[in-house]
Amino acid sequence: MSSLQPTPAVRRMAEYHPPLAGRSGLLLDFNENTFAPSPAVAASLAKLAAKSLTIYPERGPVERVVAKALGMEPAQALLTNGVDEAIHLVCEAFLSPGDEVLLAVPTFGMYPLFAQSTGATVIPVHAAQDFAFPFEAMLSAITARTRLVAFATPNNPTGSAATREQILALCNAAPQAAIFVDEAYFHFHGKTVLPTIATVPNLFVARTFSKAYGLAGLRIGLLAAQPESLRWVRKVASPYNVNSVALACLPAALEDEPYLDWYVQQALSSRGLLESALDSLGVPRWPSAANFVLCRIGPRHATFVTAMLQMQILVRDRSSDPGCDGCVRITTGTVEQMKRAIEAIRQTLATMQWQTSEAQQ
Ligand SMILES: Cc1ncc(COP(=O)(O)O)c(C=O)c1O
Repeated sequence: MSSLQPTPAVRRMAEYHPPLAGRSGLLLDFNENTFAPSPAVAASLAKLAAKSLTIYPERGPVERVVAKALGMEPAQALLTNGVDEAIHLVCEAFLSPGDEVLLAVPTFGMYPLFAQSTGATVIPVHAAQDFAFPFEAMLSAITARTRLVAFATPNNPTGSAATREQILALCNAAPQAAIFVDEAYFHFHGKTVLPTIATVPNLFVARTFSKAYGLAGLRIGLLAAQPESLRWVRKVASPYNVNSVALACLPAALEDEPYLDWYVQQALSSRGLLESALDSLGVPRWPSAANFVLCRIGPRHATFVTAMLQMQILVRDRSSDPGCDGCVRITTGTVEQMKRAIEAIRQTLATMQWQTSEAQQ
């Protein structure tokens, strides 16, 4: 037996293996853009010379472009290797063993993972059955040891959002903690607290280019906060954390606003179609402010997901998330794709002889 051992915190951590292998067909399982990034991104890629890959990437100039596009100061912007890295860096910068981290659950799996890796204690704050943001419970869970409060708005997998007032109240109630607001799905919701970083020192806002922009494979995200707060996070970041291909493509993606607006409109129209279809089929679902809908199939959730897969449509089984027994999450992409997916849902439920009463079990 090897004498090599990880830290006690790493030994205690659960492993996270999203079902990524061999995905093909209509991918409605990871909330990505289901179509393509802007054609301007393809043009930037085509212009990229292989020679440019010989040098280390420089993040600063693109941080200035992003900051300008979002009406921020460059010192308030840190580009990261996706929001995943932003979460990791915030945990590294602010958490020590014994610190408390409040997470509104169910939620995105990377928060507990990176928080636990530091030896901090994760305190799950459970949403009620309506999956609304558990604001009162979050507020009451704050203690002197709370060092991080992290949540997504809109949240994955529920689609529910926190209000600006709730976010500000949490920032005020826990000035000793970083309040990490993950706006990965901002474009589908349209509400943001990004400008508020100017006045609230413990507020961190994360944005991704993996969802509406269709750049999940490039791994690029943004962490925004006051320069003094962000300084600690910069200290633990690699100067080369964002690769040069991502940096070369991002300005073009940001500039092509008409394309972004088109894609967001498609995803929102699709969401409306999916919600109506689920309602007419009697499948319980939660209201969503994002590009996906969480619904409850009941005990035969796995049969449903497998049958959809056989029709080349991938949806995500979320039944093992807290409070999500029997639940499946379906990404909404273009309207044409959604019509195909809805037809497959109808057929699958009919073949299964599925009954609404199953979802109540
Ligand atoms: C809430 C939330 N935050 C962050 C991410 C990951 O973002 P990125 O691809 O920028 O790492 C996801 C991806 O599913 C997500 O749902």
